[in-house]
Amino acid sequence: MSSQVFTEQELTQIRADTPGCSKVVHLNNAGASLMPSIVADKTVSYLKHELNYGGYETAAKYEGEIESTYQYLARYLNCQADEIALTENATAAWQQAFMSIPFEDGDLILTSASEYASNYIPFLQLQKRSRIHIKPIPVDQFGQIDLDRLAGMMDHRVKLVAVTHVPTNGGLVNQAAEVGQLTRENGCWFLLDACQSVGQMLLNVDDLGCDFLSGTSRKFIRGPRGVGFLYAANSSTSKLEPTILDLHGAQWKSISAYSIRKDARKYENWEFNLAGVVGLGAAVKYMLDLGPERIWQRIKNLSDHLRNKLALVPGVDVQDLGVVKSGIVSFTTPLAAEKLKERLHLDGFNVSVIHPSHTLLDMEQRGLPHMIRASVHYYNTEHEIDSFAEQVRQIVDTN
Ligand SMILES: Cc1ncc(COP(=O)(O)O)c(C=O)c1O
Repeated sequence: MSSQVFTEQELTQIRADTPGCSKVVHLNNAGASLMPSIVADKTVSYLKHELNYGGYETAAKYEGEIESTYQYLARYLNCQADEIALTENATAAWQQAFMSIPFEDGDLILTSASEYASNYIPFLQLQKRSRIHIKPIPVDQFGQIDLDRLAGMMDHRVKLVAVTHVPTNGGLVNQAAEVGQLTRENGCWFLLDACQSVGQMLLNVDDLGCDFLSGTSRKFIRGPRGVGFLYAANSSTSKLEPTILDLHGAQWKSISAYSIRKDARKYENWEFNLAGVVGLGAAVKYMLDLGPERIWQRIKNLSDHLRNKLALVPGVDVQDLGVVKSGIVSFTTPLAAEKLKERLHLDGFNVSVIHPSHTLLDMEQRGLPHMIRASVHYYNTEHEIDSFAEQVRQIVDTN
């Protein structure tokens, strides 16, 4: 299938909306995507209003737009706006959710083999304080979560299944909805790290069956940096108590009492980067207007094209796992990844480097060194991908 999911006219408009497209070939969308102008404009005009009229006064004036960000995220995820909390990043969202689960000695946490370091470290922290157990879920022949093995691991000891949908280190897309089905049957908590799937594909929390889902603004949603969000299902999380609870999430009632708000905003802090929130709202709206299904189709087509092109370059090994593959393309070459990244940057191509310790279990299991991560978005073109693969060929060839 051709990557022509959007018409030529639409693509021209999308690229015109994205000034960065005329400056660089941006293949670091899993790091932070190029923002559309509307996102930067909304963020900057919010800040300019603060400059002239004051922070609190600006927040009051923009109240409607701030609320819209919750509404747009809820529309995207198919949930209620009061099931969304805004946080400073995906890690804060994930950790707030995790720390609010009432673990007891003997509880078991099941997690994906490609879990992100910032999720696994809190497991280990908790294990220092209480007698919980952590078990990685084995992978199948494609490197995805092995659903049969997971089903076999499910019993009364499993308190939480915490998995990453699209890991930081490659194209793998874990079968989140199937995991959700198993957690529902077992009656345990399901925390989904969707940091790298939000913005790439359509997500529906009813289908995913998760209690919590964490995401970030700056990656495939194309929002500003420094904002993240948490979906917390009303049906299951309304009685949980966040570890970090301030006067926004709770109310001080008496010398010995406080009450906690009922909605997901109990996971928020009072003080917040509201310019970023307004920018995030604009980014989610831009994505919804384009259509998440079309975005996903084009991302898959472009990343397949990139994988096919790279596979033809002598010395390059594409390392992506999974049956369905996302826009994240990971590869090794005989050259040190940092050196290749720097060379590509000088030539106008943005990529990032994958560090083994960020997804330690998977990287050790596969014996992988630092790798290059080239991540496409729908605004990239086949021509950009062809010239990128050619540039990699030339650099690898001459070094
Ligand atoms: C899978 C995954 N989860 C979580 C995060 C953390 O996101 P943030 O930097 O917004 O906290 C990342 C960041 O790269 C990630 O790749």
